[in-house]
Amino acid sequence: MTATTAASSAYIVAALLFVLSLAGLSRHETAKAGNAYGMAGMAVALVATIGLAARDGDALTVGLIVVAMVLGAAIGIWRARIVEMTGMPELIALLHSFVGLAAVLVGWNGYLSVEGAPAAEAEVLDLPVGIHSAEVAIGVFIGAVTFTGSIVAFLKLSGRIRSNPLVLPGKNALNVGALVAFAVLTVVFVVSPGLAVLSGLTLLALALGWHLVASIGGGDMPVVVSMLNSYSGWAAAASGFLLDNDLLIITGALVGSSGAYLSYIMCQAMNRSFLSVIAGGFGNEGSTAASGDVEGEHTETTAEEVAQLLRDADSVVITPGYGMAVAHAQAAVADLTRTLTDKGVQVRFGIHPVAGRLPGHMNVLLAEAKVPYDVVLEMDEINDDLAKTDVVLVIGANDTVNPAAAEDPASPIAGMPVLHVWEAESVVVFKRSMSTGYAGVQNPLFFRSNTRMLFGDARERVEDILRAL
Ligand code: TAP
Repeated sequence: MTATTAASSAYIVAALLFVLSLAGLSRHETAKAGNAYGMAGMAVALVATIGLAARDGDALTVGLIVVAMVLGAAIGIWRARIVEMTGMPELIALLHSFVGLAAVLVGWNGYLSVEGAPAAEAEVLDLPVGIHSAEVAIGVFIGAVTFTGSIVAFLKLSGRIRSNPLVLPGKNALNVGALVAFAVLTVVFVVSPGLAVLSGLTLLALALGWHLVASIGGGDMPVVVSMLNSYSGWAAAASGFLLDNDLLIITGALVGSSGAYLSYIMCQAMNRSFLSVIAGGFGNEGSTAASGDVEGEHTETTAEEVAQLLRDADSVVITPGYGMAVAHAQAAVADLTRTLTDKGVQVRFGIHPVAGRLPGHMNVLLAEAKVPYDVVLEMDEINDDLAKTDVVLVIGANDTVNPAAAEDPASPIAGMPVLHVWEAESVVVFKRSMSTGYAGVQNPLFFRSNTRMLFGDARERVEDILRAL
């Protein structure tokens, strides 16, 4: 078997492992196996790729690849070990920016070694130069949009810049104009490849990526992260064409299409237009204004009172949110669930699809704390039961239980499906202050007559309730 045939076979095995990985990751029970398949696929792909490089290149090239890999792996392991679950979205955004940057560099390298190289030194291609030039232009464009878009997402998610949407005058025209300019520059580049055109195209794409994500408000950021995931996949696929690497094309297409599908599902869950979000908040100008200030009296409660309320209840629903993750309250919440269940109270969880800061955030925390899967229900499964529920405990959730989304058409989150916790007989909201949630929108739930506010750190308050029980 030649080295090329061996590498192609290894690539097919790796591609199959990646497909199995995606299938595994779609269910909690099989997610660990999915991760294992993905890691095995990547190991096979790396060995095959280094093997090919060893056949084609000199010892120095192989040495450099291995050094880069070891350095990258060391930094990756270090970051993965120290990152908090709440910091995952920004880490993922940052990693997407690396994929985008890599695609830009691969594109530029393609240009410098073919179209931009002196005729005697130019790489010999087995495809028409025009096609290669188009691949360079498209790869650089997708990569640069992904790069700056992901950097803005990182800055917004980590709170380094405000998450409010940027509203430039004529922002939709700017985006459409940038796409038209990209098409024109690509044609010019294919006809007459040159440094100036490629530089212009790169700058244009960097600006477009920045603008697209800067124009999107905080409430839509979850979709943006998954959309950038999709872009990073397409950027990798574009690099695969340039590097003539089939596995990179397949892997990029898998990431690109699964990311796009996840974005679509999340848009449906949040009642957002998919096109509107990928086009940088297109058509959302009317909803970017802050909603009318919500005012009223809120009623405070104590852990002892909540314990009494729970003792008297037959059914309790817990709706956790980002604050449960910040407070590391999941173990205490699991203890509370067991204690109440032992006392004969029916306890279930209602999970909003974007609760927390990344898809599945709450499910992972509850699974870690050993809360049984069968009491953890999705929003659509629990919403109809909330009106028949005695007590809802809103633990560190805010936007995902905001009645304004369902009742106030002027709200920035109008139309986003939410958990109808206010329909329960009593609601207890665990939070530290009256401040807003991620979307920056005040929550009328806090001022309803059946709502009690339990202020303080969620873990400490849940532990207080456990003691009182
Ligand atoms: P949020 O609306 O962000 O509300 C979190 C609440 O937790 C806040 O009201 C905060 O109030 C409270 N909190 C924070 N630390 C706490 C602590 N130690 N103890 C008690 N409470 C604490 O959360 P949510 O309801 O989960 O909604 C998620 C939001 O994030 C949505 O707007 C969603 O679009 C966005 N988002 C989601 C994702 C994904 S994919 N899930 C990704 C990015 C953004 P205090 O500060 O007063 O305590």
